[in-house]
Amino acid sequence: MTLLTYREAAIEIEPGEDVLSALLRAEIDAPHSCRSGVCQSCMHRAVEGNPPAAAQEGLSDAQKSLGYFLACVCVPDRPLTIVPAQETAIRSEVVVHSMERLSGDVVRLRLEHDSDFTYRPGQFLELITDDGLRRHYSIASLPEDDPFVELHIRLHPGGRMSRFISDELAHGRRLHIAGPLGTCIYEGVDPDQPMALIGSGTGLAPLIGVLRDALRRGHRGPIRLYHGAREREGLYLHDHLQALTKRHANLHYIPRVLSDTGPHGGDVAAAALDHENALPQTAFFLCGGEKLVGRLKRDFYMKGASLKQMRSDTFLPAGSGR
Ligand SMILES: Cc1cc2nc3c(=O)[nH]c(=O)nc-3n(C[C@H](O)[C@H](O)[C@H](O)COP(=O)(O)OP(=O)(O)OC[C@H]3O[C@@H](n4cnc5c(N)ncnc54)[C@H](O)[C@@H]3O)c2cc1C
Ligand code: FES
Repeated sequence: MTLLTYREAAIEIEPGEDVLSALLRAEIDAPHSCRSGVCQSCMHRAVEGNPPAAAQEGLSDAQKSLGYFLACVCVPDRPLTIVPAQETAIRSEVVVHSMERLSGDVVRLRLEHDSDFTYRPGQFLELITDDGLRRHYSIASLPEDDPFVELHIRLHPGGRMSRFISDELAHGRRLHIAGPLGTCIYEGVDPDQPMALIGSGTGLAPLIGVLRDALRRGHRGPIRLYHGAREREGLYLHDHLQALTKRHANLHYIPRVLSDTGPHGGDVAAAALDHENALPQTAFFLCGGEKLVGRLKRDFYMKGASLKQMRSDTFLPAGSGR
């Protein structure tokens, strides 16, 4: 017998029994469909213990490293504590450390958090206001080096969370967050693999997190970071990124500004699609608006890139069906 812990209930798994069958036997209404490891509707996450490799087949390397697995093909031989995949966001309290303008409409928010909030750069969290407004933001900081969680937030004119952030947030203000969520992280990338990080606007936030993680771990392959903006001011970390390229010979920074006709002028997606060539080997990180991410995924796939090597976060507006 192997012990399974699910929402504080202890369930004995019988020899040869899979986790999904054990949950259903315990009258837990676990979602499922094919019961053969194909549809992924029975995905759970192990928060303690390691699921067997066979239960993670077909999942991305990032999902594997975060403990996701398919319950219907998971026959564990060691104890596991699990939660449904969609319930991994843990709610906690944070305190605003600082907020500063990075450009006309982008602010950097730094939040103090307690040690229970563990994350990888590139994941995202949900900011929650006292009256229940919730919005997702990607994490640009590196937990090994940064004492604060760092977010880059574009303030949308008329946006509800944007208004709350600009009118009410200041040093010392308490807030709730839920998370972390998402698998757009460095885990699973081979240190010699080429990496292409492509984003527009505050899509740079998760990319910066992933980039710093890669550099800190001594990534050896070429890393090309493409950042697109409508106006020159939108390249809000231009100087920092240029300085970083001087310290890392394998890092290339390719900025593109739509309204510009100079050397940095043009469309970021077109630049990336033109420059990238080692497509099947490249690890792609695609972040930003729906149109950009959708176009890059489709066009790179059509040109020979591997979907398994694409990690992405689409900054969908709230209430758009996600
Ligand atoms: C996984 C994920 C990660 C995200 N990470 C970030 C991040 O790191 N930084 C960041 O700035 N935002 C990020 N977002 C977007 C963010 O969650 C909010 O949608 C955004 O801040 C607007 O919220 P709001 O309440 O101010 O505007 P709302 O009140 O929700 O919307 C007001 C109006 O603003 C416009 N608008 C709102 N959201 C968008 C959008 N995403 N794109 C274009 N127009 C929009 C629309 O016209 C909308 O009608 C992310 C979204 C997702 C799903
Ligand atoms: S029920 Fe389909 S993968 Fe498990």
